[in-house]
Order: sequence, then C-alpha cells, then structure tokens
Amino acid sequence: MTEPINVVVTGAAGQIAYSLLYQLAAGSVFGPDQPINLHLLDIPMMMDVLQGVVMELQDLALPLLRQVVPTADPAVAFKDAAAAFLVGAMPRKQGMERRDLLSANVKIFKIQGEALDKYARKNVKVLVVGNPANTNALICSHYAPSIPKENFTAMTRLDQNRAQAALATRLGVQVDKVQNVIIWGNHSSTQFPDAFHATVNGKPVPAAVNDDAWLNEVFVETIQKRGAAVIAARKMSSAMSAAKAAGDHMRDWWMGTKPGQWVSMGVLSDGSYEMPKGVVFSFPVTINNGKFEIVQNLPINEFARGKLNATAKELEEERVDAHSVLME
Ligand code: NAD
Ligand code: LMR
Repeated sequence: MTEPINVVVTGAAGQIAYSLLYQLAAGSVFGPDQPINLHLLDIPMMMDVLQGVVMELQDLALPLLRQVVPTADPAVAFKDAAAAFLVGAMPRKQGMERRDLLSANVKIFKIQGEALDKYARKNVKVLVVGNPANTNALICSHYAPSIPKENFTAMTRLDQNRAQAALATRLGVQVDKVQNVIIWGNHSSTQFPDAFHATVNGKPVPAAVNDDAWLNEVFVETIQKRGAAVIAARKMSSAMSAAKAAGDHMRDWWMGTKPGQWVSMGVLSDGSYEMPKGVVFSFPVTINNGKFEIVQNLPINEFARGKLNATAKELEEERVDAHSVLME
C-alpha cells in the first residue's frame, strides 16, 4: 500500500481551488495509485465557506482522498507537505497589471515561505499560482532557506496551454498535435510566447503558419493579454483553465515529461540564455525523476532576444519592488 502524501492548497475557498481540488482528489495529478491528504489553507474569514468545500470533497466519494484538513493556520497546513499549490492571493481586476498586486500579495508569500521552511518536507515541490507568480515564488523561496531553490516554481503553464491552443486553432489541427511552444520570462504582459521552436505533427510551426508577422505580433499579443481578456469578459480572473494548468504543471513535475517534449515553468534563473540570475524566469524544461533541466542551446534571434531582455528587466524591477514592500 502506498502511503498518502500531504498536498497543500492555499486559497482553498477560492475560485481556482474549486476546480483544482477535484483533479487532485481524482488522481489526475499524482496518479491513480497515490492516495493524498488535502491540507486546505485559507484566511479565518473564509472558514465557513471552506467547510462547504470540505463537505463537497467528502461527497465526491473518491477512494484516493484520505484526510481533508481545513485550516487558517499555516503551521497546520504545511505540516509534512510533499507538494504545495500556493494559490491564495488577491486576483487582479479589470484595468490592473498583475504587478499591481505585488504590494497586496508579496507578504503572504513571505509568511508561507517561513512556514514551509519550518514544517514542510525538505523535498516539497512548491507551485506558486497567486500573482505576481514569478516574484511571489522568488520571495517564498527566499524565506525558506532550508528547502532547495529548485523546489520553488511559478506557473506559466496557463500561458503555454493558451499558446498551444491558439496555434492549433490557426492551423486547424487538434490541440495535442502542437508541441514545444515556449513561454519565456514573466507571467505578465511582457512574457514572450515563442512559437519558433514549436512543432505541428512533428514539423516546424513557423513553416506551417507561413506568416512571421502574425506570429510576432498578433499571436504574441493575444497570449500576453489573454488573462486580461478573460477578466474583461467574466469580470473575474480565469479559474477553470488556471486550475487545469496547475494540475498539468505539477503532474509533469511529479511524473516527468515525455521524450522529445518540453514544458515551460518559472524557475530560479541560473543565467541560461544570458538571462539575469536570481529572478524566477520561465524557461523550457524537461523533467526526469522529479528534477527539471532547462533546455539549452535553442537559437535565439534578434527579435526574440529583445523580448527576453524586456521581460527580464520587468522581473528585476519586481524583485526590487518586492524587497522594498517587505522592508516597510
Ligand atoms: P479568489 O479570490 O477566488 O480566491 C483566492 C482565495 O485566497 C480566497 O479564498 C482568499 O480568502 C484566499 N487567501 C487570501 N489570502 C490568503 C492567505 N494569506 N492564505 C491563504 N489563503 C488566502 O482568487 P482566484 O481566482 O482563485 O485566484 C487566486 C490567485 O491566482 C490570484 O492572485 C490570481 O491572480 C492568480 N492566478 C494566477 C494564474 C497564473 O497563471 N499564474 C492564473 C489565474 C489566476
Ligand atoms: C491569468 O493569466 O488569467 C491570470 O494570471 C489572471 C490574470 O490576472 O490575468
């Protein structure tokens, strides 16, 4: 019998968690043979709502789900955590940039970093979803010095899924026929969705699209602004697709990527592709045995270099802003 693992979801009474928890309980992320205990963290004011979520989880009657622990105490939530989805944070409203959330949200990730450091397993895998996700992941890892830096990642998988779907629509193919699209940099409007190394049915996407102007302008801007477009339409930020992406990210981290395929994750930059060290930057990675490696030696043309530098600059600025908020 496999022992259950403790999986933390923060913001557990919120929108994204509502779609994410079912995937976790059903075995879509950690696999059909891995039982889980769900540790659900939210703020004290949300405990009644969270009780309703707990009732629904019980009513799913899913055999992989063992204990469910709702709590407002990070010490309880992060106890012996093997995996953590840090979702809980304020979402942006229409007209805001994700960076505008920094002063409201960065303090949450300091507190949760400290709690992870004290209470979680040292090999815990932490996925930061709450915005601004890259800089929140950086802050969280900074306050958890006993946990390796590579155990903290930020979610750009939603952008990857959006880019893959947009290319599939343009090419009139099923979405899984498009592979290896890359999201570089920040989960923000400076991100660079890069289709130049992507394939469709194994052939290069740029040749199949045969319209570099579309790829460089319309495609890039559509993906950069997709989160804002969803907010404008729904009056709330994306949740179902964000939860699916969080599940995809953690599943690939846990189980590994398929041969020849890579995925994008925000990871602490080691200077690859001449990007600054010490920011959480989204790179293409392959994953084996729970460890990711940044895909190296992809050719970067002048256009792409400009985009990479712009998103790196924003991340460096966010890092400065975050540290000044935490000094206040
Ligand atoms: P939501 O408002 O529906 O839920 C957020 C939940 O977090 C609420 O229940 C709130 O009480 C809780 N919370 C707030 N502070 C907390 C704390 N200190 N500890 C624990 N819980 C806390 O929001 P949502 O739609 O679920 O979005 C959550 C976050 O995810 C937002 O920051 C949003 O911008 C972000 N997001 C990121 C991506 C991505 O691709 N990286 C995609 C979508 C949304
Ligand atoms: C998204 O990409 O949908 C989320 O990050 C929410 C937002 O603020 O755009």
